[in-house]
This record gives sequence, C-alpha cells and structure tokens, in this order.
Amino acid sequence: VTPTPLARRIAERIRREGPISVADYMALALGDPEHGYYTTREPFGAAGDFVTAPEISQVFGELIGLWCGVVWQGMGAPAPVALIELGPGRGTLMADAMSAAGKVLPAFAAAVALVCVETSSRLRRRQAATLAARHPGARVTWHEDLAAAPGGPALIVANEFLDALPVHQYVRSVAGWCERRVGIGTDGEGLALIDVPIDGAPPALPARLATSPQGSIVELAPARLAVVREIARRVVRDGGAALIIDYGPFASGAGDSLQAVRRHRFQDVLDRPGETDLTSHVDFEAIADAAAAAGAAVFGPLPQGTLLRRLGAEQRLATLSRGRAPGAAAELAAGVRRLIDPKAMGLLFKALALAHPALPTPPGFDPAG
Ligand SMILES: C[S@@+](CC[C@H](N)C(=O)[O-])C[C@H]1O[C@@H](n2cnc3c(N)ncnc32)[C@H](O)[C@@H]1O
Repeated sequence: VTPTPLARRIAERIRREGPISVADYMALALGDPEHGYYTTREPFGAAGDFVTAPEISQVFGELIGLWCGVVWQGMGAPAPVALIELGPGRGTLMADAMSAAGKVLPAFAAAVALVCVETSSRLRRRQAATLAARHPGARVTWHEDLAAAPGGPALIVANEFLDALPVHQYVRSVAGWCERRVGIGTDGEGLALIDVPIDGAPPALPARLATSPQGSIVELAPARLAVVREIARRVVRDGGAALIIDYGPFASGAGDSLQAVRRHRFQDVLDRPGETDLTSHVDFEAIADAAAAAGAAVFGPLPQGTLLRRLGAEQRLATLSRGRAPGAAAELAAGVRRLIDPKAMGLLFKALALAHPALPTPPGFDPAG
C-alpha cells in the first residue's frame, strides 16, 4: 500500500528532526493545512467515516437551542447575544438549535448572532451552505479560534470538539516515565510508536495518575485545557454559559484512548494519516477542574442521556412522531434512543456546563432533576 502524502511528509520531518509527540502527530493528521483530515474531507454520515449526535437526530440540536434560550433568559435576555459553536461540523446542530429557538423562544432567536469557530475552510463552506438554506438572513461569522471571536455575552456550544484536539501520551516504563512518540519503524520506512525516555522533569501529572503502575499509559491534553480555560474566562468576563458534550470518563484515569476511525471502522492510529479520523477520550475531571480554576461555575458532568431526557427528548420525539408513517416514526425513535441509551451514546458521552457564577443552574443540571 502506498503511504498517504501526509504520511510521507511526516516521515521526512521525523528523519530531519527526530520522533514527534503523539500530540504533534494528531495535530498534523487532523489539521495540516494541505493534507489534514479536516482540511480535505467531509467525514460525517453514512457515506463518511463517523456519525455525530446532531447528524443522528434533530432533537439533539433542538434541545441544545432551547437550553441556550433558557440560559439567555436567566442572563436577563441581553441583545445581541452570540451563539458560538466550536467546530460546527456541517452546521446541523446550529441550524436545528435556531429552528427550535425560532419556534419556542423567538425573542432569543431574534437576538442571536451566530459565531462559528472553525479552522477547516471546506467545513466553513459547508456550514455556510447549511445555515443559508435553513436560516437565510441569519447573521453568521467565522473565526479561527475563540479568542478571535467578538466579545459580549455568549452561549458557547462544543460537541465532539475537544476530542479532536491533540493529546500527549506518557508511558510508565521500568526506567521511569517515557513520552510515546511517532518515529520510523525498523523497516526504515513506515511510521511506528516508540517510547522515548523524558529528559529532565516528568510531565506534571495529577497525583492520581503519577502513581499509575508500571506499563500504564496516561494522556495529557494541554490544548484541550487551554480551550476550556478560554471558554471559562470568556463566560466569566462577558457573561454567559457553555455546554461541552463529548465522550470520555467522569474521572481521570490511566489508559490509552487514542483511536482512529475510517469508514465507521477502527484502524491503527498510524494508518493513513490525513484520511483517518483521530480522537481520544476527554478527561472530564481535568476539564472541570480547569474551568473551576478559571472562575466559572461548573455543572456536571452528566451522562448525555440524562441531560437529554431531562431536557425533554422523549416528549419532543412524541411530538415529532405524531402523524408520521410507522417507518418514519421508528427511524426518529431509533435516533433518539441511540443518543440516550446507556448502551449506545447515552453514558459514554458526558455533558458539562460552565457558567458565569451569578447565573442560575442551567436547565437539566439541577441535582434534583
Ligand atoms: C468531530 S467534528 C464535530 C462536528 C460537530 N460539532 C458535530 O457534532 O457534528 C470536529 C469539528 O471541529 C473542527 N475542528 C477540529 N479542530 C479544530 C480546531 N483546532 N479549531 C477549530 N475547529 C476545529 C473540525 O473541522 C470539525 O468541524
């Protein structure tokens, strides 16, 4: 099999500079401006590589839109208000959110300026097309990162965004902590994972991870923590709240969660970089701590299924199904079930809310249910 153009370029770089971190590999594989996965592909849906919650059921984006609208009322209904989405994919969540808001909370929909934080110009075009078709006349702007987005009160949504940001992997070997890196294999050609002893200080591991037994792999994602701190600082500074949904554990733990997916199948993480999606589990304990340290009020994490049920997913499904042919109704129900069922996405995916400390508890996060 011929290597991808990106695999060749990565190998050249390694020959020049030595093995690169898993984080650098992930950043190149997903975001390389010429050959990166998100630069060159449209990964979503049955014909693509994977399916995300907003693409499974419109109910997902609709409930998030209403969540944002209710939080906005609790903020004192500022106008204008930004609805910022990090990594909006095809723009489906945003379009569904605005549809629901337009019907149920029209004052909120009218106050909203849409803000997409997206690095891929291909996906920016896709988002523009979705929003122009479904919400012609909506105000939309695109920005490279959250820091570049205009200030002011905001609702911030990030679904399956953090899992695409790079992670470092560390391995506890007999000789101490090593960083897992991507180098050249013994055949002198292909890419291979190698564990390189760390010069100087070991990574700053939380106490629970520092005592991991020999052979353990731990993942640290400074890029994710930086984004979460930025979100937290933003809602504290300008007012508002954020909803982060992704997959990963409630508590920090050891384990290799880096995974590669192409055409709905798991692949080797080094297989066909640029043509394969790479993600790893989001450590919800670590991001919740980072947000709290930056001054935000933190709610959750809750299982995705719990949040969606509390927000009324089943009621919305019943309304949508009314008067539909049995086949169509069954399809709608299967979508919602997949999002909520603990054996599907309902438990592996978690929702974390961050808010300005003066705001009421966001919808669905009240411990009383
Ligand atoms: C897994 S997709 C999720 C898409 C969408 N949220 C959904 O649920 O369908 C990740 C999204 O984040 C974008 N993205 C990845 N890394 C990014 C970065 N560093 N900055 C901004 N956007 C990024 C991708 O282009 C894509 O739109």
